[in-house]
Amino acid sequence: MNDIELALACKKILIENKREGGFTEPTATLYPFQWLWDSGFIAIGLATFDIQAAMEEITALHSAQWSNGFVPHIIFHTPNELYYPGPEVHGAYLSTFAPKNIATTGLTQPPVIGFVLEKIYNAAQNKNEVLTFLIAQFEKTFKFHNYLYSNRDPLNEGLVYIQHNWESGTDNSPAWDEVWKTFEAPHYDLPRRDIQHINAEQRPTHRDYEYYIYLLEIFKSVNYNDALIAEKSPFLIQDPLFNSMLAASNESLARLGELINAPKNQIKKLKYWYNRTKIAMNKKLWSDADNGYLHYDLRNKRLIHALTSSSFAPLYAKIPNQLRAKKLLTTLLSAKFLGTKSENFLCPSFNTLDERYNPIKYWRGPVWVNMNWLIYYGLHRYNFNDAANIIKKDTLDLVIKYGIWEYFNPDKKKVNEIPNGYGAPNFSWTAALVLDLLAKDK
Ligand code: SER
Repeated sequence: MNDIELALACKKILIENKREGGFTEPTATLYPFQWLWDSGFIAIGLATFDIQAAMEEITALHSAQWSNGFVPHIIFHTPNELYYPGPEVHGAYLSTFAPKNIATTGLTQPPVIGFVLEKIYNAAQNKNEVLTFLIAQFEKTFKFHNYLYSNRDPLNEGLVYIQHNWESGTDNSPAWDEVWKTFEAPHYDLPRRDIQHINAEQRPTHRDYEYYIYLLEIFKSVNYNDALIAEKSPFLIQDPLFNSMLAASNESLARLGELINAPKNQIKKLKYWYNRTKIAMNKKLWSDADNGYLHYDLRNKRLIHALTSSSFAPLYAKIPNQLRAKKLLTTLLSAKFLGTKSENFLCPSFNTLDERYNPIKYWRGPVWVNMNWLIYYGLHRYNFNDAANIIKKDTLDLVIKYGIWEYFNPDKKKVNEIPNGYGAPNFSWTAALVLDLLAKDK
């Protein structure tokens, strides 16, 4: 398959996964609604060939924004029995801030929309065509960031916490293993739908899901009140990926704000947020022992020593200085990720030398294209162009070899044994971000 054929296949997926209401499903069947960070990445791909569709994607997402600025991670546009847990299990309607006209979750996801808006602006041939859209969406995104800094930063450090592993986007990352040990979730009968569509060995376990559902029970018991969650809930994590996405979005929104003549105090605030988050991440999330950024467990006041693909996300937001970035590069190219003889496709989602590494299980090892895309652009910000070329080539090799899947086995030795990628096929963000990579000369 050459680049032109690959681009056509990617466009076809995005067109086929688009639904009435202007949003795109991450993939038919497994994820039949609109997801926050999926929509952001999808809009980047759409912007390479259909600016109107990219704008519709973000407009549909923000149509479900809560009155306090919160943006939910799933918008249940149309009821669908194929997915668990649905709106009743999430119970987000218990919050006084939730919209009445549309069902959503009470969880969020990495705040990518700020930099997605800048991507859409840059991709637009005719800037006037996107101006009204940008003015409205800038305001909504600013309000979301304001929600995060006002409600998710109890120590006023410039670092926000996630309240659920689903908010990280990296659902069953080994980073949470230590957190699950600090409390006991009850046992539930769970009508899992995901493992009816996907081989269970590629998905989180039943026990994992009991923890996920138990956290939702805690949130419902306090009507999703942020202050009470911060006070009571056992899972409060400062995530390097989530905070990097927030920082990068602050940077982008500050630049966009100048372009659209946003009020000066908003632009000033965005720059202030960016700098505070950058300083706090370097102070609190960096580990010299691991040579990478880690998750911080705010409830139990400790760093979680697990190197994951999220450890490299700060490159995307220019969080590390050049010296620290060089250390991150060394970690990326080491036996832990690339392998001493480049045995792996970049970037495994977890340290391959850790005994918990599992090359087929969701976020415990496989390669994800959205993380590769973030790391690719991050490496370019530091002029690590050779490493950026490796990650771009690995990404394209994987999709050409296996198809446009949700995630992939990192092991290069397995390419002749394994017939396909993992999770769902025809995966929207894989298609979208491959389109963006193909559109670049880098
Ligand atoms: N990623 C989750 C799932 O697998 C939801 O956010 O369903």
